[in-house]
Amino acid sequence: MCTNIRNRVWIILAILCFSLLICSTKAVVSYDRKALIINGQRRILISGSIHYPRSTPEMWPDLINKAKEGGLDVIQTYIFWNGHEPSPGKYYFGDRYDLVKFIKLVHEAGLYVSLRIGPYVCAEWNFGGIPVWLKYVPGMVFRTENEPFKIAMQKFTKKIVDMMKEEKLFETQGGPIILSQIENEYGPMQWEIGSAGKAYSKWTAAMALGLSTGVPWIMCKQEDAPYPIINTCNGFYCEGFNPNSVNQPKMWSENWTGWFMEFGGAIPNRPVEDLAVSVARFIQNGGSFMNYYMYHGGTNFDRTAGVFVATSYDYDAPLDEYGLLREPKYSHLKELHKVIKLCEPVLVSVDSTMTSLGDKQEAHVFKSKTSCAAFLSNYDTNNAAKVMFGGFPYDLPPWSVSILPDCKTEYFNTAKIRSPSILMKMVPTSTRFLWESYKEEIPSLSDAGTFAQDGLLEQISMTRDTTDYFWYLTEITISSDERFLKTGVDPFLTICSAGHALHVFVNGQLAGTAYGSLSSPKFTFSQKINLRVGTNKIALLSTAVGLPNAGVHYETWNTGILGPATLSGVNSGTWDMSKWKWSYKIGTRGEDMSLHNVTGSSFEEWKEESFVVKDQPFFFIIKKFWAETRNLSQSEITTYKSQPLTWYKSSFATPEGNEPLALDMNTMGKGQVWVNGHSIGRHWPAYKARGSCGRCNYPGIYIEKKCLSNCGQATQRWYHVPRSWLKPFGNLLVVFEEWGGDPSGITLVKRTPQ
Ligand code: GAL
Repeated sequence: MCTNIRNRVWIILAILCFSLLICSTKAVVSYDRKALIINGQRRILISGSIHYPRSTPEMWPDLINKAKEGGLDVIQTYIFWNGHEPSPGKYYFGDRYDLVKFIKLVHEAGLYVSLRIGPYVCAEWNFGGIPVWLKYVPGMVFRTENEPFKIAMQKFTKKIVDMMKEEKLFETQGGPIILSQIENEYGPMQWEIGSAGKAYSKWTAAMALGLSTGVPWIMCKQEDAPYPIINTCNGFYCEGFNPNSVNQPKMWSENWTGWFMEFGGAIPNRPVEDLAVSVARFIQNGGSFMNYYMYHGGTNFDRTAGVFVATSYDYDAPLDEYGLLREPKYSHLKELHKVIKLCEPVLVSVDSTMTSLGDKQEAHVFKSKTSCAAFLSNYDTNNAAKVMFGGFPYDLPPWSVSILPDCKTEYFNTAKIRSPSILMKMVPTSTRFLWESYKEEIPSLSDAGTFAQDGLLEQISMTRDTTDYFWYLTEITISSDERFLKTGVDPFLTICSAGHALHVFVNGQLAGTAYGSLSSPKFTFSQKINLRVGTNKIALLSTAVGLPNAGVHYETWNTGILGPATLSGVNSGTWDMSKWKWSYKIGTRGEDMSLHNVTGSSFEEWKEESFVVKDQPFFFIIKKFWAETRNLSQSEITTYKSQPLTWYKSSFATPEGNEPLALDMNTMGKGQVWVNGHSIGRHWPAYKARGSCGRCNYPGIYIEKKCLSNCGQATQRWYHVPRSWLKPFGNLLVVFEEWGGDPSGITLVKRTPQ
C-alpha cells in the first residue's frame, strides 16, 4: 500500500517536473469559452496593431516599448504579401519588411504576437496586400473558389508559417506568436458571392488548420468559421458580439481607435473616453481579447497606400504617426489597462452577474470566493447618474463605465481623464532648400518606349502598377473652315476616366486637371479647350493613386481612361475619340532616369530655380504685383506661377535633435517625394478636406467619421521623414510635382509638444 502510494507520488512528481521543464520553455496555447489559455492560464489580453512596414526598423524598438509601457500584452500585425513577393517567386524580407526581426523584437520586449497572415489584408494597403502580378495569372479570380488563387494563397501562407516555424516563433516553440489569422473579414464577402464563397472559406479554414501552427486560428467577421477556428469581432463597439461556438472566447480583433485619412477627406478622430467605454463594456460582457486597430498607424511610405488613402496612416492612434505618445489617449488607456489587469484573476475565473441600477445604468459583477470586481455603467449619453452599489453612492458621468477592482473603490472611470492633454505642433527648422529643377517633357509620339494601339487601354494592365503614371497621346487636326474658329467658341473635350486623377495637356500646356475620390474614383474631365488650325497635340497623363483594397472582386476594377472620350463643338458634330489610334507611354522620363536617387539625380541637367529661392524678396514683390493687377489672392498667384510636371531637388543638412521630422508641403499640388532615394510617399496637399467639421459631439455614441477636423484645409500637409533615412549632411530631397506648386514654400519641420 505504502509503496504504492510512494510510487504514485514519484510518478506525479516526475510528471510535474517534466511538465514544468516543458512549460518553462514552451507553452501551449488553447482556449475555452472564457479566454485564451496560455501555459495553463486563462488570460485577459490587451493587444494593439503595429504594421511593421508602416514605420522603419529603427523605430520598432521604441514603438514596441511604448506599447508595453502602455499596458499591452500583444502586438498584432498583418503580413503584407505584395511587399514580400514583389514578383512571382522573388521574396523580400529586408528593411521595413523584415518580419522576423520585428517579431523577435516584440518577443525580446516580452510581448506576444497575433499574426494576421491574410494574405488578403484590406488595411488600406495597395491592392489589399495581394501582389498585382497575381491578377494577371491566367484564370485568376481573387478570394473565391478558384484554383489559381487558392494555389497562390496556400503557397504564400505556407511560406510564412514555415518561416515562423523555422525561426521558432510560435508560442508552442518558445516564441511569441499566440494567434494566427487566415483571410480577413470574409463573411460579408461570402454573403455577396454565395456558394463559391462558402466553399472557398471552408477550404481556407481547412488549409490553415492543415498548417499545424500549434496556436489557435482566428477568422474575423466570419460567423460560420468552422470549429476550432474562432470568429472574432471588428468594429467601434463589440460588447454584444458572440463567437461562433459556446466553447470559444469572445475576441475583438479590431477596435478602431480612430479612422484612416483619405485624400480629400477631413481628419477623423475618436475621443478616448468613447474608446475606453467600448473596451470596458466589452470586458464587462465577458470579452477577453481586445486589439486596438491601430495602436500605431504610421505612414504609407512608397506607393503602398490603397486607393485614395493618404500617405499618413496616423489613425488617431495612441501612438501618433511619428511614434510619439498621443495624450491623453495613450495614458488614459494605460490606466484602463492597469485596472483591467487588477481584475484579471476574477474576470477569467467566474461569469458576471448583471443587475440594473437605473433606466440606463447597470452593474456587472464578477465575484469569486476570494475576489470581486465590478463594472458600473451609465449608457445615458447626455446625463450623469448617481447610482447606489453595495450600499455606497457612485457618480457616473454620461456614457461611462466605472471599474471597481475590489467591488468598492472606483479606480477608473472611462470618462474621467486624469492625464494631461499634450498638443503637438510642427515647428519650422532653419533648413533652407535651394532648388534645382528638371522639366518633365510631355512624351512625343516618336519617343522610345511609346507604343500605339487602336482604342483606349486600361492603365494597370499596362503599367502593372510599376508606376502611378500612364500617358495617353493623340493628335487632333483642325481645318481652317471649322465653325468654332469663326464663332470663337472653343470645342469641348470630354474624357471619362475610371480613376484616379488626370492632367490634360493641349499643345504642351496644362489645360486642366480632374480627379475622383475614394467613394467615387471615376470622374469626367469636361472642359473647353483651345485648339488651333493644323495638328494639336493632346497628352493625357492619367495617374493612379493606389489600387483598391476592398470590395467584391476589387481586382476587376479599372484604372485609367476607358472612355467615352469625345470632342464636341466641331463642324461634323461630336467626335468619338475612344476608337482612335492612341499612343501610350508607361511612366515618366524622370522615373526612367531614376531622378529620385543619388545616381539618377546626378547625371541629368538640372536648372537652378534662382527666381524662387535666391531672390526671394524680389519674387514676393512680383507676386504681389501680379496679384494686385489680376485681382488674385497670393495663394492663387503661387499656383499661377508654378510649373506642372517638374522635378525639384535640393540637398540639406539634418537638423539637430531627435524630434521627428516632416516636410511641410502645403504650397505644393500633387506628386511624390523621396529622401536619399527612400520614397516618403505621395503628396497631395492640393486636395482639400471636405466634410462637416465642428465640435466632436461627445459624449454620445461615436459614429464612424463623426468627429472630423481640418475641413477646408489640405487633407495632408505634413509628410514624415524618418530620421534614420538621413545622414548629417548632403541629404538628397527630390520632389516630383505633377500639377504645379511653389517649392520655395516647402519647409522641414520638427514635431514637438506645444
Ligand atoms: C477593417 C479591415 C481593416 C481595415 C479597417 C479600416 O474592416 O479589416 O483591414 O481596413 O477596416 O481601417
